Amino acid sequence: MANHIIIKKKIISFKKKICVSGDKSISIRWVLFASIASGISKVKNLLISEDVMAAIDIIRKFGIRVLKTKDFFIIFGKGIDGYIYKKNTVINAGNSATLGRLILGLIINSTNTVKLIGDKSLSKRDFKRVTSPLSKFGAKFKLRKNFSLPLTIQGLKNLKPIKYFEKRGSAQCKSAVILAAMRANGTTYIKAKKSRDHTERMMKNLKLPIRIYKRRNHDLIQVKKVKKIRAINYNIPSDISSSAFFLVLTALSNNSELTIKSVNINSSRTGIITILKKMGVNIIFQNKKIYRGEEIADIKIKSCKLIKPINCPVSLNARAIDEFLVIFLVAARANGVSYFKGLSELNKKESPRLKWGSKILSKMGVKNLTTKNSIKIFGNPALKVDKKIIINNYLNDHRVFMTSVVAALSFGGLWKIHNSKSIKTSFPDFLKIINQLKKK
Ligand code: S3P
Repeated sequence: MANHIIIKKKIISFKKKICVSGDKSISIRWVLFASIASGISKVKNLLISEDVMAAIDIIRKFGIRVLKTKDFFIIFGKGIDGYIYKKNTVINAGNSATLGRLILGLIINSTNTVKLIGDKSLSKRDFKRVTSPLSKFGAKFKLRKNFSLPLTIQGLKNLKPIKYFEKRGSAQCKSAVILAAMRANGTTYIKAKKSRDHTERMMKNLKLPIRIYKRRNHDLIQVKKVKKIRAINYNIPSDISSSAFFLVLTALSNNSELTIKSVNINSSRTGIITILKKMGVNIIFQNKKIYRGEEIADIKIKSCKLIKPINCPVSLNARAIDEFLVIFLVAARANGVSYFKGLSELNKKESPRLKWGSKILSKMGVKNLTTKNSIKIFGNPALKVDKKIIINNYLNDHRVFMTSVVAALSFGGLWKIHNSKSIKTSFPDFLKIINQLKKK
């Protein structure tokens, strides 16, 4: 299979109902919790992507049995202290910072040194943000000078609880500390800037000793030592971050309408919905329900004739952190200048995404002014692309690839987008669903 895609035509109007794959954040968390639960946990609709398979490979290294049947994944948890830490264990988080960072919290009690490695993109990312709080529990880390991978962790049996202030709005940092806190002797106190809260919701659903006090801009979280986790059967809802590409494609296409079934609409993830609504897009939630402490709904969206520009409030940043690249395309079609700020974290993702957002827009001929943490996009409701655009060398960032596909199908031009295999990390079915939308 070629590792690039060529797109020559805009998509024509569509009216469809689709399902997207399982939520990545919840899939990884389910694998980790099930691996330290007591007994057999079963999951349906687990995201089958490289990031999640890397999580399964890692728990297997610690002696946990995993079985795949036609409809389920089954994990045979051996209890909270069930991991076996063999000498010279090397674990590979692949492309996933969520996995790399969360697993360090979970193996904070390792009895042997464990080495963590990752792919080229992950090996450029900052790990000090987690090793620094985790070392306060008593674990020892060895990192490279620039705080990136590979690193080693030597855990400890007798862990002290800590006090931690998470200032970035990073769910990965918060969750790594919460997982480690489950193993510490006493109560860990966390003050965390708002970010996605799947870890907390899963723990509450499992009746584990976590308390959360919600404040306006942050949460106060208390976690006590966990003695036992019951097995956890789960039906993973669809991922709003994967849905985002189709939401934007529909908003930007002529005379189109789309329903995406059973999507996780946890309010810590719905920044894109708030932003699109503010820009004048017609979106509604249907068939809302609660499942295991998470909110689920079908999302119905219609194409938008007149898109308004937005001065995006920074309070929405963490709630839309993975969706900005594709949101920038909506701003490119807006009737005025949009402004997104406080986004330095965006350059610390799988690729420097703020830079890549700006690059894609510039290649399309969209004027933008970009700093280290902000972007002003000069929208044009009549925007058309009629030149050749090549997208390459972006550290295989799956979201750069998918955003480029949406841009090509929405604005026209002749696009050659390299590294189509990048979608394997988060959303292997992406191009299949694009083809469903193209079919009459
Ligand atoms: C994630 C948290 C976010 C997000 C990532 C998934 C998670 O990262 O970008 O794709 O599952 O916890 P940060 O917590 O570093 O912002």
